[in-house]
Amino acid sequence: MADASSAGHHHEHAHGHAHDHSHGGKDLADFNRDYFDENADKYDEMPGAIELTTKVANAMLKKFKFDEDSTVVMDYACGTGLISRILAPHSKKIVGVDISQGMVNRYNLRVSNQGIPPEEMQAVRLELKGEEGELDGTKFDVIVCSMAYHHFPDIDDTTRILVNFLKPGGRLMVADLLKNESGSMLIPEKHQHVFERHGYAPEDLRTVFEKQGLTNFEWEQVAEFKMHGMDGKTLLAVATKPAVSAAL
Ligand SMILES: C[S@@+](CC[C@H](N)C(=O)[O-])C[C@H]1O[C@@H](n2cnc3c(N)ncnc32)[C@H](O)[C@@H]1O
Repeated sequence: MADASSAGHHHEHAHGHAHDHSHGGKDLADFNRDYFDENADKYDEMPGAIELTTKVANAMLKKFKFDEDSTVVMDYACGTGLISRILAPHSKKIVGVDISQGMVNRYNLRVSNQGIPPEEMQAVRLELKGEEGELDGTKFDVIVCSMAYHHFPDIDDTTRILVNFLKPGGRLMVADLLKNESGSMLIPEKHQHVFERHGYAPEDLRTVFEKQGLTNFEWEQVAEFKMHGMDGKTLLAVATKPAVSAAL
């Protein structure tokens, strides 16, 4: 595929304006699928990737009482599984979900190389739409999503879908770029086309989470990093799906 950055794609979207992602029939999700398919094999070697995801995953482990005998986890937009592999020893089962077959293949290759049975850890290629029968109706104690919200076309919609997959009392944990005081981070031109946003303020995510009925919102800064030549900070936002009785 040609480098999409040379295709004249507008990138105002990364500054939060109203926008249209369709170019030649490709929308933001298509750009992401193709971009991550192409970059899957190099992903884990990206400087800082392992360090960053290790910090994020370790912070996630403190936000729920993970139990290797019972905790069922979804890692949405799981990529190659950098987060999953840290959560796995503390979980009964992890399901990775990602739009990119290349990323899913890397994830599953590592799982089989480690001799882990697929019933315990496996990724599937899927963009969740909230339709009946997705993931066989499995419900999760914890759903994590790391460094991917800024790639999603509509985070209200994604959050609504993810909340549907949570058990009552379950927790949603989203790690993403922390928007800095001056607004957006600068993303190099060649990566612009896969971004919807340059990051989120904690209050942005609180609003999105609470709109979907989550409670006990909390957030913290979990890492500072350098990636694609930029300085960034990562926030982890966490909230709880109320138990049914609490909603009465
Ligand atoms: C920056 S990577 C993060 C991967 C992993 N969560 C981690 O922290 O290492 C973003 C991931 O989001 C996935 N992605 C992008 N858009 C998506 C969408 N609409 N639905 C599902 N996954 C998507 C990409 O394929 C990619 O694997």
